[in-house]
Amino acid sequence: MKRYHVTTFGCQMNAHDSERIKGLLEELGLGEAPSQDEADVIVLNTCTIREKPDTRFAAHMGNAASLKRKRPGTVVAVGGCYAEAQRERLFTLYPDVDVAFGPGTIAHLGDWLGAGGEGVARGSFGTGSEREFAAGLPLHRERRFQAWVQVSMGCNSVCSYCIVPAVRGREISRRPGEILAEVEQLATEGVREVTLLGQNVNSYGRDVGSSFAELLRAVDAVDGIDRIRFTSPHPKDFRRDVIAAMAECAAVCEHAHLPLQSGSTRVLKAMRRTYSRERYLKLVAELRAGISDLALTTDIIVGFPGETDADFAETLEVVAEVGFDGAFTFVYSPRAGTEAASMDDQIPDELKRERIERLVEVVQRGAAKRNATRVGLVEEVLVEGPSRTEPDVLRGRTRRNTTVNFAGPAAPGELVPVTIEASTSTTLRGIRLAAVAA
Ligand code: SAH
Ligand code: SF4
Ligand code: F3S
Repeated sequence: MKRYHVTTFGCQMNAHDSERIKGLLEELGLGEAPSQDEADVIVLNTCTIREKPDTRFAAHMGNAASLKRKRPGTVVAVGGCYAEAQRERLFTLYPDVDVAFGPGTIAHLGDWLGAGGEGVARGSFGTGSEREFAAGLPLHRERRFQAWVQVSMGCNSVCSYCIVPAVRGREISRRPGEILAEVEQLATEGVREVTLLGQNVNSYGRDVGSSFAELLRAVDAVDGIDRIRFTSPHPKDFRRDVIAAMAECAAVCEHAHLPLQSGSTRVLKAMRRTYSRERYLKLVAELRAGISDLALTTDIIVGFPGETDADFAETLEVVAEVGFDGAFTFVYSPRAGTEAASMDDQIPDELKRERIERLVEVVQRGAAKRNATRVGLVEEVLVEGPSRTEPDVLRGRTRRNTTVNFAGPAAPGELVPVTIEASTSTTLRGIRLAAVAA
């Protein structure tokens, strides 16, 4: 039996696409190899959101190329956003690539590889009208009790720094009936938590006569689904009906990942985010008023072209004012073809570094404070398995999406009450609340 190995870069969307890629390859009769070195078909599912994933991909290609020299029959298939962005040049840049495919053409991977990975046709396809949802493909799920569910593909926003619209195309929503059928199927397989995925998840539905709020309510009604998460919402589409649905649906978790990007209205405008600092803060207030005990996380970019010390100071202010439970912080990385890449006033690397260090400090201080308020509380934890670093300790997540390391007993997939005893800026620590004898 031929064997494949998939390496995934980038976001949860890509991680989920990889589950479809694996499902498809298994349907073709391939088995999974434990490493690239042992695989007949090496798949790299790439990301190109910043320069770093491009560089990591180049390193993996180096390894794949040397494996090909040792074992000439090895097939190298490159998919995802970098492949799409470089579709014209990929085979020239990397002559060892046999098959290239975009995020919208995973379904064709089988045609190019042939049954069992034989008879490779060199080919590359991308985001044209031929784009298809990968959701119809077989699925190799990585996690037993949690699942990703794609609700839309593409993005209609025009954030000036972002490559995603160019590589994932315009937004298309999946039909609500299809999404619900998938969620129901997952529930019968024992899945307790679903994460709804879209580049701009809460703009879902306009093109299929539905809305994100309606979708949340429909998924909430599926028996057996105890937790619903979603990522990433855009602040501009976070309307009242979504907040109400979050508050009223028992399974929708008390967590919103709300990308801020910058705290300066001037920079937000140049980023084409379509909200101001004030509008963002108002939304935070509405969310907190509507949903009790809400956790808020965010994404922030520092060093956007033209960002002054005063702009950056505003970002620090907003971060301190909101008090995020966590944040992904990024140094601005120019992406070829985007509006921001050709703007004047690119910020020197050293200044970007300095700013991100200062930002991380403020983020961590805020998150540590937020987590400290959980000490003494009993949190409902979905058990995921043993802790990554301490095999005797269990690991799981609260509804607010904080990782908890705790003393059991408990089995993966169970929802258990855990008394929180200690906290850091990123994790909680506790002990399972003993069952009280009746
Ligand atoms: N669709 C999602 C996120 C897409 S990318 C959304 O809009 O929220 C995830 C994060 O990467 C973004 O929120 C942004 O903070 C960051 N990012 C995107 N392009 C970037 C760039 N060119 N340089 C640095 N960070 C970037
Ligand atoms: Fe990129 Fe903006 Fe779309 Fe998010 S909303 S994927 S940052 S263009
Ligand atoms: Fe990267 Fe594509 Fe996701 S560029 S972040 S894998 S949408």
